Amino acid sequence: MELDSSDKLSHTTRGLHWLIALTIIALWGVGWYMATNKVYPLYSWHKSFGILVVLFAVVRVGWRIKNGWPSALPSHQQWERALSKLVHWLLIISTILMPLSGMLMSAMGGHGLQLFGLELFPHNPMPDNPQRNMPINKELAELFHSVHGIAAKVLLVSLVLHVAGALKHHVIDKDNTLKRMLGR
Ligand code: HEM
Ligand code: HEM
Repeated sequence: MELDSSDKLSHTTRGLHWLIALTIIALWGVGWYMATNKVYPLYSWHKSFGILVVLFAVVRVGWRIKNGWPSALPSHQQWERALSKLVHWLLIISTILMPLSGMLMSAMGGHGLQLFGLELFPHNPMPDNPQRNMPINKELAELFHSVHGIAAKVLLVSLVLHVAGALKHHVIDKDNTLKRMLGR
């Protein structure tokens, strides 16, 4: 299988990067919008696409272990290498932590886990009112709810730094950093 080289990133790296990047940006926007405005019909879509991210993320982490991180370009300064490494780690950790905390929050909150209608984990109906759910473990549900909210903020800050870095390389340094991720 094709691996990354310093002037060309493989199809696998680019495909996984953009598939996950676009899904995560969309989930971030939908998550924030639905939670702020209490748009409940969006919750099941947010959760189903969020669960899919776990599958992509496992493949990506496997790929990083096999391929290593893309090597820096010779023009990248020492401080840029250190900062980008930190931000890439924060992004990868968020890619795992966001869906994981979301799934645990829903499951522990008694709402179950459904992937586009397919039940992965059963909901927990109230004995005297089966139309409503009750938490399996309220403390854990609240803990994972907080983790989801905090990780969302860390993800947003990392993403702003990440995109600013990509644009700086493209517009100010005029190097190949963004181009090689776009496959040009
Ligand atoms: C419009 C948004 C985005 C742009 C323009 C962008 C751009 C880039 C570029 C140019 C690189 C290559 C850096 C290098 O060669 O050292 C890169 C790598 C990376 N990006 Fe993004 N990115 C975006 C969104 C995201 C998102 C949402 C994530 C969150 C998961 C993410 C995670 C990563 C990671 C982990 C790497 C390291 C290399 C890899 O694992 O493939 N990016 N990005
Ligand atoms: C990469 C994947 C995900 C991202 C980026 C993401 C992002 C977000 C964001 C930004 C919010 C708004 C947080 C706030 O305003 O406090 C949110 C809320 C929420 N997310 Fe996710 N999420 C992801 C995956 C999941 C998954 C897999 C589930 C469950 C299976 C889930 C369940 C929820 C729920 C229930 C809320 C609403 C919480 C409330 O009403 O306060 N999320 N998500």
